Amino acid sequence: MDNIKPTRVKNTQFINKIMSAKQAAELIPHNALVGFSGFVGSGCPLVVPVEIANRAKELHAKGEEYQIKALSGASTDLNLDGVLAEADAVSFRSPFITDRTMRGNINTNKTQYLDMHLSTLAQQVEAGFFGKLDFAVIEIIGVTEDGKLIPSTSIGNNQVWLNVADKVILEVNHFQPEQLEGVHDVATLGKPPYRVPLEIKDVRDRIGTPYMTVDPDKVVAVVITETTDRVNKFTPLDDISKAIGDNVVQFIKQEEAAGRLPKDKLLPLQSGIGNVANAVLSGLKRAGYKDLVCYSEVIQDGLLELLKDGVVEMASAASLSLTPEASAEFRENVDFYREHIVLRPQEISNSPEVIRRLGVIAMNGMLEADIYGNVNSTNVMGTQMMNGIGGSGDFARNGHLSIFLTPSTAKDGAISSIVPFVSHVDHTEHDTMVIVTEYGFADLRGKSPKQRAAEMIKIAHPDYREMLQDYFDRACSQPKAGQTPHLLSEALSWHDRFNKTGTMKK
Ligand code: COA
Repeated sequence: MDNIKPTRVKNTQFINKIMSAKQAAELIPHNALVGFSGFVGSGCPLVVPVEIANRAKELHAKGEEYQIKALSGASTDLNLDGVLAEADAVSFRSPFITDRTMRGNINTNKTQYLDMHLSTLAQQVEAGFFGKLDFAVIEIIGVTEDGKLIPSTSIGNNQVWLNVADKVILEVNHFQPEQLEGVHDVATLGKPPYRVPLEIKDVRDRIGTPYMTVDPDKVVAVVITETTDRVNKFTPLDDISKAIGDNVVQFIKQEEAAGRLPKDKLLPLQSGIGNVANAVLSGLKRAGYKDLVCYSEVIQDGLLELLKDGVVEMASAASLSLTPEASAEFRENVDFYREHIVLRPQEISNSPEVIRRLGVIAMNGMLEADIYGNVNSTNVMGTQMMNGIGGSGDFARNGHLSIFLTPSTAKDGAISSIVPFVSHVDHTEHDTMVIVTEYGFADLRGKSPKQRAAEMIKIAHPDYREMLQDYFDRACSQPKAGQTPHLLSEALSWHDRFNKTGTMKK
């Protein structure tokens, strides 16, 4: 990147630290705990991690040890998680991933993984629960004359990493539009017992400043880049996703008709990652909603489109995670979008306090749910990590309404998403309210476990409904059926059968 003029670094103290990505990577020793920027593929440093990976490969070839422990905001880019995993350069990772190679390393125990609620990692690092943060490697889009940092397309945990890291490496990305300046609202929670209430009473409210700060003496390298975010494309909406989206809309309409949701102004929406969550937003558009607001953690292509169409009027999130096509649209109309977007640190975008105050409607994808409404979002067949819990727990536990979404089957019908007992629990029956498949919605609110089972079986795929009913009936007819009837010897037999035969069907 020697050919890029560092026009966006306007402070001499920072200009003096400019060096190549290779030189910067060499500063990071074996076993360092490194806090990277990056949230759902956006705002990640993309050149220093590649050089860390190259260095790891070179040292491994010489028989020398080299691995780092890597923290981030959430999932990152191929040039961060992907290259580091490929080089076997990460011994420990938290809090969320989506990269296939990293997932492979986690599931083969090459990398230890701690799957955490996204709102909680920074404060636990700040509290010292992870030991000393040796390095922060943060993408920004510029340094002002007075040494303030202009955040990039995500904020994630960056300000806390900058506060607590011993040393800081900055990647100054000259590609992202300069008009991003002002979109962010940076604030930190501080440490208990000195915290104060977060004065966000409306998704538009701002409580911080547009800039991040760092002690310039801690900055050991400034690397000049010109890189694009490269978020993956969604698969086009199929009939099943559309049906799920429409069922969510039907549920919302029912709530409005019953007076449980305001008709004139829908509560703020959170919509998770993934194809199905994206389908819900399209469902709302098809239903003619206008002027909605989102208090969410990520703005993806679907949401950008809704902002453009006026379906959504204001969106608050921790990142702007766009495919190259949507990113081009954003850049072209950046002045319009900056009026309708605010980007916050993930401790605030996912703050339980704010989510509960605003009355957010939380909508997240899941892998499977059981007949009583426990939800598994993370571990396929109870053992294989998919991505992580992400922000789903932050929103599901604290939302005014918590909705989980899934197609009724996976892997061409070989797996039922509604099972007798989940093989791993991320969201317990105490936090789940509504589960939606293409067959309808199970309304679990105000219902006992047995009443919930009837709702859940109703939304299972027809191929599995009788099997679920049979399991439930036999569990209920035991002498000591109890409050939450189960056949303990059969509770996980569907998963076991899939592992042995390739299908949950008998
Ligand atoms: N068992 C095994 N695999 C399953 C499954 C199940 N019960 N349910 C889904 N899958 C597989 C699908 O087959 C698909 O596999 P593929 O990638 O090989 O095609 C994959 O999981 C994704 O499923 P899909 O139906 O396309 O849903 P999605 O894109 O909406 O993702 C999650 C679903 C659960 C993986 C995703 O929502 C997630 O990671 N959630 C946890 C984090 C989160 O909720 N964050 C929200 C806050 S932003």
